Amino acid sequence: MVKICCIGAGYVGGPTMAVIALKCPSVEVVVVDISVPRITAWNSDQLPIYEPGLEDVVKQCRGRNLFFSTDVEQHVFEADIIFVSVNTPTKTRGLGAGKAADLTYWESAARMIADVVKSDKIVVEKSTVPVKTAEAIEKILTHNSKGINFQILSNPEFLAEGTAIQDLLKPDRVLIGGRETPEGQKAIQVLKDVYAQWVPEDRIITTNLWSAELSKLAANAFLAQRISSVNAMSALCEATGADVSQVSHAVGKDTRIGPKFLNASVGFGGSCFQKDILNLVYICECNGLTEVANYWKQVIDINDYQKNRFVNRVVSSMFNTVSGKKIAILGFAFKKDTGDTRETPAIDVCKGLLGDKARLSIYDPQVSEDQIQRDLTMKKFDWDHPLHLQPTSPTSVKQVSVVWDAYEATKDAHGVCILTEWDEFKTLDYQRIYNNMQKPAFVFDGRNIVNVDKLREIGFIVYSIGKPLDPWLKDMPAVA
Ligand code: NAD
Ligand code: UDX
Repeated sequence: MVKICCIGAGYVGGPTMAVIALKCPSVEVVVVDISVPRITAWNSDQLPIYEPGLEDVVKQCRGRNLFFSTDVEQHVFEADIIFVSVNTPTKTRGLGAGKAADLTYWESAARMIADVVKSDKIVVEKSTVPVKTAEAIEKILTHNSKGINFQILSNPEFLAEGTAIQDLLKPDRVLIGGRETPEGQKAIQVLKDVYAQWVPEDRIITTNLWSAELSKLAANAFLAQRISSVNAMSALCEATGADVSQVSHAVGKDTRIGPKFLNASVGFGGSCFQKDILNLVYICECNGLTEVANYWKQVIDINDYQKNRFVNRVVSSMFNTVSGKKIAILGFAFKKDTGDTRETPAIDVCKGLLGDKARLSIYDPQVSEDQIQRDLTMKKFDWDHPLHLQPTSPTSVKQVSVVWDAYEATKDAHGVCILTEWDEFKTLDYQRIYNNMQKPAFVFDGRNIVNVDKLREIGFIVYSIGKPLDPWLKDMPAVA
């Protein structure tokens, strides 16, 4: 029986391994982690992450050929294939601070592997890493190897949160990079055989190591660039009276462009886009490619601009101050169908409003009060470390209350900001919300999900990203 061990039981390690276990009953899969609470949760009825369909897959396989354990060394020792899916945060100090990937966790995992194994292994990079990381890992492993042969593969993960299980069951492609030596090709074949149990052969792409590593950064940069492009257009739409949804639709009909990922929003979030682009920018700079670095940096700059612009719209519409006013925040997760808040645009929007002394009442169907308070007090990039190593915040933000109901959040509020596109926000009783709010009552839709005309009929003043402006907003300053 082939044995797989995955180091890192996070958003990637957990779902990815669960699907491998589901589709390969003859493979034993053990997911290990240094975080005891995470592993305890994976072994309980309350999984540590919310992902549609995940619970079902885990329940089918757990205890059969899928296991979660904190005994990292034992399972690494026993495995034939070791996936490494640990955190790769952005560095906050030293060389490359604010951009480069911090490979501390990766390096410590590699050193531990070198220490404990006694037979040949295939080590798979599942974490997103800078180009040439495989070479560094190879060096760590071979310099400490005691004659053991290691083959390093790059197998970046393309799943998106909220649709992870579907993405894993029917991936657009699986990418495997390896050395172009006979041993490297053999290792590629071993991993290919695992995926081939459910992924059609023509969707399994094999490349050299560096192409696989770079393709992951490039794919995320291209996706984020589409969002920044449409968000840049949204500002122009507001200035000209065009409607960004109509523009996206017309543009996306061109088969060379395609319709996906053209929804204007308050900004993209998530653990990957910003981090991976900063990493890409850093690699470009290190290679002397200043113009290329600046080009990709703009994708982040527009995203920051979009979040600022949204805050400014809120403040300027409400007589240029939100001081002491209650603002309801509907949605805190970085997208719907996940409880993940990493780099969610809601953090910057809330901080912007708090900066203008607003009182916030926040509701998200999947995010806890504790998480929201941590997010609003944590330093930039601190979120991307194992939970037990994150600094604990000594205080909470007093002007923030977290409630478990949209109606409670909006009661007596002066304005409502929709920051996540949860389906339930589309079908709220907006008349009831209006009746219970201060007047004039404002809705700021950062995800373009409400029916603007209907809300205006009720009496709301409505701002919707990139849509023709409410007469109320026409003469207000718009630029960040
Ligand atoms: P995560 O923080 O959810 O999980 C990482 C886990 O690794 C944590 O549970 C942590 O405790 C554990 N860990 C860290 N060092 C360890 C060690 N030495 N030994 C054992 N366990 C250790 O992160 P994630 O979202 O799963 O991301 C993992 C990697 O995958 C990152 O490089 C990320 O950029 C990449 N990635 C993420 C996504 C996504 O959607 N989240 C998608 C594609 C790629
Ligand atoms: C992304 C990539 O899609 C995935 O392939 C990679 O493996 C990890 O990073 P994820 O961050 O989980 O996945 O979600 P994604 O669906 O890409 O959304 C990212 C952000 O962009 C979210 O905040 C989302 O709301 C926003 N977004 C997405 C838009 O604002 N407009 C869009 O049209 C699409």
